[in-house]
Amino acid sequence: MRFEASNSVNQPLPIQFANNIRVFIKREDLLHPQISGNKFRKLKYNLIAARQASYHTLLTFGGAYSNHIAAVAAAGHEFGFSTIGIIRGEELVDKINDNTFHNPTLKLAQQQGMRFKFISRSDYRDKTSLKFIEQLKHEFGEFYLIPEGGTNALAVQGCREILTEQDQQQFDYVCCAVGTGGTIAGIIESSLDQQMILGFPALKGDFLQTEIAQWTQKTNWQLMPDYHCGGYAKTTPALLQFVADFYAKTNIEIEPIYTGKMLFGIFDLINNGFFPTNSQILAIHTGGLQGNLNNRFKLS
Ligand SMILES: Cc1ncc(COP(=O)(O)O)c(C=O)c1O
Repeated sequence: MRFEASNSVNQPLPIQFANNIRVFIKREDLLHPQISGNKFRKLKYNLIAARQASYHTLLTFGGAYSNHIAAVAAAGHEFGFSTIGIIRGEELVDKINDNTFHNPTLKLAQQQGMRFKFISRSDYRDKTSLKFIEQLKHEFGEFYLIPEGGTNALAVQGCREILTEQDQQQFDYVCCAVGTGGTIAGIIESSLDQQMILGFPALKGDFLQTEIAQWTQKTNWQLMPDYHCGGYAKTTPALLQFVADFYAKTNIEIEPIYTGKMLFGIFDLINNGFFPTNSQILAIHTGGLQGNLNNRFKLS
């Protein structure tokens, strides 16, 4: 199974910041056209483990626009696994085969061979119960289970490979968007103690502090909780304007749910004097650009 991360490069932003601060963006979005960004890292050791244990099917969970669902479907297609997506929202059952239904995430996943089971929001909350998993096994046979968002110990192991030795030497700060916390946990684990790892939660709630701490003993990290813009998949006009301006200035496409919020936060922190003079900042582009195809967020 070939999982090579040779496409990821650090690109300096062509933007002049005050105090000789420099920002580079690690283009993890370029790792793979469909298994992009942190998904590539999170799936790598899971797929190797699934293959070694002779599983033929991957099963996972997600919402209707989930980057993780898109990536698992693509990875299954590329590496020869059947895939099953347990999707939040039973109302989608009737829509998925309707030609007028606009949801590139699910349509592309379906084209890659993913089978879906749509469940209600209340069943979805219960999705990890033993009883529900047993029901799924009864329905689909044996499968390798990948959790929602893809975070588990093997995912954290894969995310340790995001930072290179050169990154450890060069950067004072490494910044990363946070959903479930697996990606930043891997980055923290492979960072040097004198580096500071900043996490930008894409959603509200202080549970992420504990979620991340379960994967690492290190303390050189901090969450920046003020840039979720109202919560998961919520946006503000200022955020959407920032994402559009960022593309105009850099020619780098980002999305407003994860990387957009992180960069919005980094720029705001720079303007507010958070970073010392001469800081070298590495911002991780965690991909997820497939989400932009859904056209959910528009500048008014
Ligand atoms: C594009 C993108 N960036 C960042 C994240 C956050 O990663 P994690 O869930 O590991 O915190 C996600 C979601 O999982 C994502 O889809």
